[in-house]
Amino acid sequence: MSNHLSDRIKNMSTSATLAMAAKARELRNEGKDIIGLSLGEPDFNIPDFIKESAKQAIDENFSSYTPVDGYAELKKAIALKFKRDNGLDYGLNQIVVSTGAKQSLYNVAMVVLNPGDEVILPAPYWVSYSDIVKLAEGVPVEVSTGIDTDFKMTPAQLEAAITPKTRMIWFSSPCNPSGSVYSKAELEGLAEVLKNHPDIYVVSDEIYEHINFVGDHVSIAAIDGMYDRTVTVNGVSKAFAMTGWRIGYIGAPEWIAKGCTKLQGQVTSGANSIAQRAVITALEAPVNKIQYMIDEFHKRRDLVLGLLGEIEGFNLNIPEGAFYVFPDISAFFGKTLNGTTINNASDFALYLLENANVATVTGEAFGNPNCIRISYAASEKELKEAIARIKAVL
Ligand SMILES: Cc1ncc(COP(=O)(O)O)c(C=O)c1O
Repeated sequence: MSNHLSDRIKNMSTSATLAMAAKARELRNEGKDIIGLSLGEPDFNIPDFIKESAKQAIDENFSSYTPVDGYAELKKAIALKFKRDNGLDYGLNQIVVSTGAKQSLYNVAMVVLNPGDEVILPAPYWVSYSDIVKLAEGVPVEVSTGIDTDFKMTPAQLEAAITPKTRMIWFSSPCNPSGSVYSKAELEGLAEVLKNHPDIYVVSDEIYEHINFVGDHVSIAAIDGMYDRTVTVNGVSKAFAMTGWRIGYIGAPEWIAKGCTKLQGQVTSGANSIAQRAVITALEAPVNKIQYMIDEFHKRRDLVLGLLGEIEGFNLNIPEGAFYVFPDISAFFGKTLNGTTINNASDFALYLLENANVATVTGEAFGNPNCIRISYAASEKELKEAIARIKAVL
């Protein structure tokens, strides 16, 4: 049968993290004992108090279409959360609830970008940014950062990347994949550059906000001059271990929020009703209800850093948030290990999968060809075993 796949889909890359997870699953089905450290998914169960509110929502028949931009009660809970955690005042007309933060990001790209508009992506960046921007016919402009600046973009790098076509900057803090957290002073440095470029908008992806080991999380929208030009993206997948429930949201200038609602009205009609009710409960809860997960991630980060630090050739930053380490493994390039020549990070990740039975993700997918991403959203036992295996095959 002939194949009329659109150019749009032909030219799009498959999510590397999902592809690695699929490959690991395939090998597992063949009977291999694979340890999966490739996915960005907390390994905790959803807290019981959130489950209870979902059950109640089913019993109370929250089964009709919801308002396209989300239940008013949920948007109120989001507004309070923005005020409580970020010092941001968003009206309900500035908030849109979507089917995961991934859809929130896609909406914003479709609403703000015209063909040919450039979007600055400090690299490493989250795997989907580049393809989402391209789907909206924008042009991703990568700004490479290395371990020397803790994988953060400097104001000078930002200034140098701006052209008359620049429309947006997208970044995450805490960052997936590097775990880096921008300090207030660092964000102020970037905001200072943007003062001279009033037509550039920022997407601040704060989905790892609570998984932060250094204390205060700062939203760039709260920095002087940034509120009217920032879209603050967040969601419940990571902090509340609710990846499958698919709820994300934005706080944004009203015209962007309106555009996202218009788009959603034609594409999804809004996010799942039961999940939305449960998220009201999640967001209204004090943050200390999820502290046990954050403490556990912190403990595992220290464990993983200690063990990987013993392997010669692994160059590590100290991730301050999220649940990933992003070692620079370029010291292995050009070497032959057990008959396999390692030329790049993809070769290295494949070598670990085939020889150590450990699934990681190549840094190339995140715009950094010298690194691999290792998720520590796994048990201590699995992490110790995985790193022992990695050490053995290197
Ligand atoms: C930085 C970042 N942004 C957004 C998302 C998407 O989150 P959601 O599950 O809410 O779509 C992820 C998920 O991995 C992420 O790591």
